[in-house]
Amino acid sequence: MGQSGSGKSSLLYCLAGVLPVAGGEVRFEGLLLGALDDDRLSALRRDCFGFVFQHGELLPELTVEENAALPLRLAGQRKATALAAAGEVLGRLGLADLRERRPSQVSGGQNQRVAVARALVHRPTVVFADEPTGSLDSANAATVLEEFLALARAQGTAVVLVTHDHKVAARADSRYTMSDGVLAREQDVA
Ligand SMILES: Nc1ncnc2c1ncn2[C@@H]1O[C@H](COP(=O)(O)OP(=O)(O)OP(=O)(O)O)[C@@H](O)[C@H]1O
Ligand SMILES: [Mg+2]
Repeated sequence: MGQSGSGKSSLLYCLAGVLPVAGGEVRFEGLLLGALDDDRLSALRRDCFGFVFQHGELLPELTVEENAALPLRLAGQRKATALAAAGEVLGRLGLADLRERRPSQVSGGQNQRVAVARALVHRPTVVFADEPTGSLDSANAATVLEEFLALARAQGTAVVLVTHDHKVAARADSRYTMSDGVLAREQDVA
């Protein structure tokens, strides 16, 4: 958590190897991200990380199931295999009937669920989520968050999540506050 402009999104991008760090270092499973060349960094991001953005950021020309299958397709899986795996995750998120629709033909909450499915479909080690429920009303936000966390927990994916919502933060095992680019540990619950 932290005020607007305090550096939360920047931190997520640095942790995910999307932005290089000007100082310090980011390590993932012993690997120093800054020391990897572009190909190895891209492969690490593709295979080990998932992302959920504030407004979902689905590709409008792809169907719901094609969007959800994207990380598997990028990793080289055959279309039928990738779509089958995506269908399973979509089913767990209550979206089985919407597989053939385009993002413009489903609601905002459903778009966010598809974004969650896409972030988790390849069973990444870590999912980075930047205000994943920020654009939803509170009832929808609570449901999407619970489904997101349950699925992540079931497959052993760690979630690093930015939020402005204290109720969302209350679901975390550990909480940190960002202030002018400095991170402080707030509380350990786990
Ligand atoms: N590409 C960029 N180039 C230069 N400065 C940037 C860039 N992106 C963000 N900043 C600046 O870095 C600081 C942190 O931005 P960041 O987006 O990380 O904040 P945030 O905590 O995510 O805010 P919000 O809650 O509004 O999303 C801000 O002062 C911002 O203006
Ligand atoms: Mg931000």
